[in-house]
This record gives sequence, structure tokens and C-alpha cells, in this order.
Amino acid sequence: MTIRGKYALITGGSRGIGRGIALKLAESGLNVAINYYRNEAAAKDTLAKVRALGSNGFIVQADVCHPEEISRMFRQVKDEFGALDIFVSNARTEAPTFYQPTMEITLDKWDTAVDSQAKAFLVGVREASGIMREGGRVIAITYAPGGRFGSWQPWVAMGAAKSALEVLCRYFAVALASRGITVNALSPGWIEDSVLNSLPEPVQKTIHEWHEGGWTPMGRLGTPADIGNAVTLLCSEEAGWITGQTIAVDGGASLMDGALPLEIQQSTPQRAKTAA
Ligand SMILES: NC(=O)c1ccc[n+]([C@@H]2O[C@H](COP(=O)([O-])OP(=O)(O)OC[C@H]3O[C@@H](n4cnc5c(N)ncnc54)[C@H](OP(=O)(O)O)[C@@H]3O)[C@@H](O)[C@H]2O)c1
Repeated sequence: MTIRGKYALITGGSRGIGRGIALKLAESGLNVAINYYRNEAAAKDTLAKVRALGSNGFIVQADVCHPEEISRMFRQVKDEFGALDIFVSNARTEAPTFYQPTMEITLDKWDTAVDSQAKAFLVGVREASGIMREGGRVIAITYAPGGRFGSWQPWVAMGAAKSALEVLCRYFAVALASRGITVNALSPGWIEDSVLNSLPEPVQKTIHEWHEGGWTPMGRLGTPADIGNAVTLLCSEEAGWITGQTIAVDGGASLMDGALPLEIQQSTPQRAKTAA
């Protein structure tokens, strides 16, 4: 698949990581449909940036928690583009809608997490499949550590919902393989210019120091552009044999072992000896 001139839809494409993906795909010459929920100004701004890069597209409002709105969004994509090549499921509701500890979480918060991730993906991929051309790409943006560990108690609903999303990728990968459509999940580490900016200043500072201090081996947080680059790679023709995978895009953060102090993990006597 030559990427230039293809058609992409990104849910939650107006801000944060979604915007990074939209701009990187636009840089590669794709037409981009930018889904948003409430912040029309941000969506328009992203579309203007897409156009400034020489690509085109449109904005489409829809709440991915509601299947009928997802269906309406895909009808609009069909009307505007006629077909689809890339579907990126990236939207996630604001933290207060799902963020509550395990023993307290209300069922409506649980439902919001699952509806916005697993159910939205189930409905979205089936809708996408109806208009997607051979060799298309489906990419889910997950946060895999939240589904593997149990320590971040208020993340329980989103951790479970993201896990279900990753499982769905594997099932859809098999279901769509005969059409040459790949289905993968990308798992970013902590990213600048995203939901991070909505956290209290001291929390942002702690997260920066933690990662820059060594818990991300590459020594920095990721950027929306880093994730946009990873999506663009998966969209290339050369990535056509990669399917059903959950791929960390995190500068090595997922390689660190939380059971060991950092100074023990980072002691490198071998390297020190060689250098001497
Ligand atoms: N940020 C990180 O460090 C990080 C790390 C790992 C994984 N992720 C994942 O990356 C994705 C994007 O995260 P982010 O931090 O970039 O998010 P963000 O900056 O909070 O942006 C969220 C986007 O989703 C849209 N949205 C919110 N609720 C929606 C709904 N009900 N229906 C449709 N769209 C909705 C927003 O639209 P409006 O502008 O209209 O509100 C916005 O475009 C999420 O799936 C998240 O779990 C993020």
C-alpha cells in the first residue's frame, strides 16, 4: 500500500496523541478524518494544520461511547471519502469519567471505560471493515501496563478495558487477514502534550523526573509525534506481515523491572570494565 492519497479516520484526533497521529499521516500525504467529542475548536485547529501540510480532510463530531454515533461517523466518512484505508481507535474519555479505585468504582464509570474502549472498538472495526479497502490498517491505541499490573488502583476500569481492546485486536487480526488488513495495538509510554497536561503540576513534575531519571531508558517522555511515527510505520506496505500484536512505543519504559531499585538495574560493571 502506497500511503500517499489514502484515507484515514482517527478517533480523538483533535488533541494530544490523536493530533500527533493526524499530523504525521498528513505529512505522508494522507487525507485525514478527525473525530472529536466536544472541543470543536481543537479539531478545527488540527484540520488547519493538516491542510498546512498539504493534505486534506474533515472534522467529525461523535461520542464513541454510543454505537449509533459511531455508525453515523462512518456514514460521514463514506460520504466524504468514499472508502477508508486506515482506522485508528485512539479516543479516551476524560479521567473523571472512569478514574476510581477498585473497591469504590461505580458501575457507570466501569461502563464508560468499557464502552469507550472495547465496545467502541468492536463497533468501530465492524463499521470500518464495510468501507475499508484491501490491505487496510486498523490500529488501537492502548496502555498495556494498565492491563498487566494491579498497582494503580484507580486505573482498574481503564486497565481492564484496554486489555479487552488488545484481545479484540487479536480476534480481528484473524477475521480480517484474508483481505490483507492488519490489526495491531500500539502502547505508548507517558507522552507530552496529552492528558498529562491536565494533571496537577506536582504530579506532572514527578512523572517527568521519574522517567528522565531512568525509568524510561531513553531518558525522556514520548511525544505525540513519536506515536504518529509508529502509526505511519504500521501503515507502510512493508508492515503488511505484522498483525495481531501489541507493540510498546515507550523508549524502553516497559523493559524496566519494578521489583528492583533503579540503581541496581542501572549498574553496568561490564561496560565500565570495557571502557577502562
Ligand atoms: N497520554 C499518555 O501519556 C498516554 C499513554 C498511553 C496511552 N495513551 C492513550 O492514548 C490515547 C489518547 O490519549 P491522550 O492523552 O492524547 O488524550 P487527550 O489529550 O485527553 O485527548 C483525548 C481525545 O479523545 C477525544 N474524546 C474524549 N472523549 C471522547 C468521546 N466520548 N468520544 C470521542 N472522542 C472523545 C477528545 O476530544 P475533545 O477534544 O473533543 O474532548 C480528544 O481528541 C488514549 O487512548 C490513551 O489511553 C495515552
